[in-house]
Amino acid sequence: METNYHNPVLLKETVDGLAIKEDGVYVDVTFGGGGHSREILKRLGSNGRLIGFDQDEDALANVPEDDRFMLVSQNFRYIKRFLKFHGIKKVDGILGDFGVSSHQFDVAERGFSTRFDADLDMRMNQQSEISAFTVINEYDEADLRKMFSVYGELKNAYAISKTIVAARLQNSIKTGAELKQVIARFLPKHKENKILAQVYQAIRIEVNQEMEVLEEFLLQTPDLLNEGGRLSLISYHSLEDRLVKRFIRDGKFEGHAEKDFYGNVDVPFKKVGGLIVPSAEEISQNNRARSAKLRIAERV
Ligand SMILES: C[S@@+](CC[C@H](N)C(=O)[O-])C[C@H]1O[C@@H](n2cnc3c(N)ncnc32)[C@H](O)[C@@H]1O
Repeated sequence: METNYHNPVLLKETVDGLAIKEDGVYVDVTFGGGGHSREILKRLGSNGRLIGFDQDEDALANVPEDDRFMLVSQNFRYIKRFLKFHGIKKVDGILGDFGVSSHQFDVAERGFSTRFDADLDMRMNQQSEISAFTVINEYDEADLRKMFSVYGELKNAYAISKTIVAARLQNSIKTGAELKQVIARFLPKHKENKILAQVYQAIRIEVNQEMEVLEEFLLQTPDLLNEGGRLSLISYHSLEDRLVKRFIRDGKFEGHAEKDFYGNVDVPFKKVGGLIVPSAEEISQNNRARSAKLRIAERV
């Protein structure tokens, strides 16, 4: 196992949030380096079970030697289907620590990091057909604009998209450095890192369909959890956190919660505690924790 694969964020708080029962069945939908999974296994008895999901084949290197654990190398958007395939209909808790692992950021060729020059890739699942290259070279201008504006929260999404579309008529844009050169006039020195990070975030969310996947996943959780079962979910950007927050509050992503015949709110979850964020100490030791937001909910 690679020692620096990933440093788990809010480790104790997230696993505490699952209120682990020794013989329960748990799912870690973002196995990664297995930091959260190993903590769950410590708290499970010999009859407990843990199923991990990760769509990145690199995560296979981190699987613990433990009969109680199984890794499903699939996208968690298919959680119900794959749990059913393995004979599991109900579980007692689901942990999600969304986004990209440190390992994915640190391997230059994966193309996730603005620190390196690499081919435009950013696929969490190496088998996926759509990469950052496809998005930058094949998406039409309106789709690029929407992506940069919604996922990157970039003010000049319109001009950036127009510039990319004009540039790729000459030559396709193959690498991070080429993309940076194309959009250079939108990257003033004092804001270069910030804007480039927003550009990369937008592309990554699009390549991995992160918003659609999160919605599909959340919608399956009420059916999967036993009564009293827990969700413990860490988000890293506001779009993600907004979906999680609304889903826990209203059981949906838009509009108000459903009401029953008597006018009582009818939602699948009750929230457990408030928003949890990492301490200043954790952030000082692990800068990647700085944007983490943990929400916990219980199936009613
Ligand atoms: C932030 S890391 C999780 C780190 C992990 N909690 C640990 O302690 O090492 C997120 C992981 O989830 C995986 N992932 C993200 N979205 C996924 C999805 N839709 N389906 C399956 N795995 C996903 C990524 O490949 C990555 O390895």
